[in-house]
Amino acid sequence: MTNIKVVSIGSGDLAHHFIPALHKAGCDILQVYSRNLSNAEKLSIKVKATATDSLGQLNTEAEVYLLMVKDDAIKEVVAQLPQLNSKQILAHSSGATSIILLGKKAENYGSFYALQSFKKNKPADLSEIPFFIFGNTPLATRVLRMMARQLSPTVQEVDDKSRLRYHLAAVMMNNFTNHLACKTSQFLEDNHLDPKVLLPIVKSSFDKILNSDPCLIQTGPARRNDVKVEAKHLALIKEDAYLSAIYKSLTQSIKKTYNTENDAHS
Ligand SMILES: NC(=O)c1ccc[n+]([C@@H]2O[C@H](COP(=O)([O-])OP(=O)(O)OC[C@H]3O[C@@H](n4cnc5c(N)ncnc54)[C@H](OP(=O)(O)O)[C@@H]3O)[C@@H](O)[C@H]2O)c1
Repeated sequence: MTNIKVVSIGSGDLAHHFIPALHKAGCDILQVYSRNLSNAEKLSIKVKATATDSLGQLNTEAEVYLLMVKDDAIKEVVAQLPQLNSKQILAHSSGATSIILLGKKAENYGSFYALQSFKKNKPADLSEIPFFIFGNTPLATRVLRMMARQLSPTVQEVDDKSRLRYHLAAVMMNNFTNHLACKTSQFLEDNHLDPKVLLPIVKSSFDKILNSDPCLIQTGPARRNDVKVEAKHLALIKEDAYLSAIYKSLTQSIKKTYNTENDAHS
């Protein structure tokens, strides 16, 4: 199956990866929508599609309408969509939003979600990324699965409840870890020290996470219950209330996990 006709509703980070990849895989991208016409045009040119800034002017010939707008806007955008016919499919790409609200405008609807973080100008190899699809009807499931398989060999049927849990896991693993990396670099820079010296420990930390059970390899002052070290660290970041709270909270969580609160202090 090739040449599925697709309309892209959204032209942000995700659409800039999904839409050219679907085009390359043989889908026929008919149109790209964005509130801002020049944003829609920048993406539509890459895939030989038309561009529009009006949901009232959406091309009505597509088989799949792929909604890739920010999560908080999904409801309001769905409300402005035309009613789709009984063969058309409406899918969103959100990890944390139920597909149910898509049912207001389509008989066939579902999710087309990739468990990865995308930025417009950062290349991503979609073939290495797990895709989670779900359809409310056999038609929606079949077409969304076929589309996902054109991008990646790893495609699973995942419902709203499980997708939300995977999304939370990805946020903790990716967004929170990245934020810690950002705060760590800033801390060193603020103290006129070089964040680059951390690169080997960053690399070895992620190598170990990738190659072993992270719960078995925890090290550090909290794991050892070195309370004097913890106090020295907290003194250095006492001006930053949020970072202090993160430090204390992670320390408590590590102690609880390994039951080290009651270990004798040296
Ligand atoms: N990026 C990722 O890593 C990633 C990964 C998996 C899933 N997702 C999901 O993909 C979806 C899009 O995320 P993104 O990262 O591509 O976001 P983004 O880069 O911030 O782009 C957001 C898009 O939403 C549009 N938009 C925002 N508010 C709107 C409104 N009120 N009405 C109409 N359009 C509106 C923007 O339009 P304008 O161009 O007009 O501003 C833009 O096209 C989200 O559901 C997100 O959870 C993202």
